[in-house]
Amino acid sequence: MEYTPVVLLVLALNCTFQSSSSASPGSSYGVHLNADGAFQFPVFHKYHPYLNSMVQAANIPDSAVIGDDSIRKNQFFMGISLGTPAVFNLVTIDTGSTISWVQCQYCIVHCYTQDQRAGPTFNTSSSSTYRRVGCSAQVCHDMHVSQNIPSGCVEEEDSCIYSLRYASGEYSAGYLSQDRLTLANSYSIQKFIFGCGSDNRYNGHSAGIIGFGNKSYSFFNQIAQLTNYSAFSYCFPSNQENEGFLSIGPYVRDSNKLILTQLFDYGAHLPVYALQQFDMMVNGMRLQVDPPVYTTRMTVVDSGTVETFVLSPVFRALDRALTKAMVAEGYVRGSDSKEICFHSNGDSVDWSKLPVVEIKFSRSILKLPAENVFYYETSDGSICSTFQPDDAGVPGVQILGNRATRSFRVVFDIQQRNFGFEAGAC
Ligand SMILES: *[C@@H]1O[C@H](CO)[C@@H](O)[C@H](O)[C@H]1NC(C)=O
Ligand SMILES: *[C@@H]1O[C@H](CO)[C@@H](O)[C@H](O)[C@H]1NC(C)=O
Ligand SMILES: *[C@@H]1O[C@H](CO)[C@@H](O)[C@H](O)[C@H]1NC(C)=O
Repeated sequence: MEYTPVVLLVLALNCTFQSSSSASPGSSYGVHLNADGAFQFPVFHKYHPYLNSMVQAANIPDSAVIGDDSIRKNQFFMGISLGTPAVFNLVTIDTGSTISWVQCQYCIVHCYTQDQRAGPTFNTSSSSTYRRVGCSAQVCHDMHVSQNIPSGCVEEEDSCIYSLRYASGEYSAGYLSQDRLTLANSYSIQKFIFGCGSDNRYNGHSAGIIGFGNKSYSFFNQIAQLTNYSAFSYCFPSNQENEGFLSIGPYVRDSNKLILTQLFDYGAHLPVYALQQFDMMVNGMRLQVDPPVYTTRMTVVDSGTVETFVLSPVFRALDRALTKAMVAEGYVRGSDSKEICFHSNGDSVDWSKLPVVEIKFSRSILKLPAENVFYYETSDGSICSTFQPDDAGVPGVQILGNRATRSFRVVFDIQQRNFGFEAGAC
């Protein structure tokens, strides 16, 4: 998740980026405009049979790859095609930030190694359509105000500088740029706004991070403008054989399985999406939490965060309730107070017997099956809950992380301010 404080950077590049390479139509890497009029990006696990055959056939990753621990553990990726000629880059999907960036060549201050599967670092000199955004551009101003960057400009080069920092301490900074983003055949955004990262501290190996936050220059908003409806939805599969998806634009609503609740702004200082939580249940029983506690903070929906963070009083009550239910099934609570982990008596885990957690939002209840409440910790064979206290993440910030909603279709309907979820969608 994005975090407001500013990264200071000094960029002193010698830079004459020019190019004479001839334009050629880019490939689309599996993106298509679906029957509802939305852009649909397939999301595959690296072991998905389809992807394996595609990679062997074409020797390029033909679509997004997810769940590849060598790229970044527990993150989800999609493919984008940037520049002319188009270059494939595999990027992390992040609803908790707004600016999108890719690591550029001429990364000069701090750079990380990109996985081969993520594509090459972006070479601005070999794209004939690449430009830097100037200091007086509206988008430069908007981004600086939103990111709270007092002055982000290299005057002599008339180049707008972006910088953003994530709650994890990772960051990216460089030139705010524009280039062609190729979508489905014959669809493209000529002046797609993104950051060309020259100073990147990132603990993964994807080509960069794509922001879905609520700003005109976020990846989501730039693509939504090509459609007739401001919404996006995704399903991150929990199973390697299943195919997930990410779509931007109108979505199917006539499904009675899609449950809706109200979607909120988290706040002007952090333009991301939030839900208002009112109550929580374990196996149908309400937690012993004074109800007003829930409403003191909203919950950010963040695809880029793995675990789910709740306020400490909620966490303690949840811990007691989960422990009671698990002990009744013969499990033993581990000793770490901030991680709710259990050891089994050696038998294989019967997931159908593990507790179910329900979260009550304004108009509906999100029911998380045990597979979304717990995960199997391979290092020591314990069963751990995805819920953590806020002070194990960013104190005071509640986050609905990606593990809790895997295999759910989640819908962010910005136009009608609804958040939707549908179990077992991928
Ligand atoms: C958006 O376009 C699709 C077809 O591309 C159409 O079916 C749908 O009704 C349109 N939705 C709105 C809200 O105009
Ligand atoms: C970047 O592209 C330019 C122009 O095509 C080329 O001369 C240069 O060698 C490329 N840089 C790298 C490191 O490949
Ligand atoms: C998205 O941003 C617009 C413009 O700032 C704002 O009016 C709207 O409330 C935001 N919506 C959500 C769901 O964050």
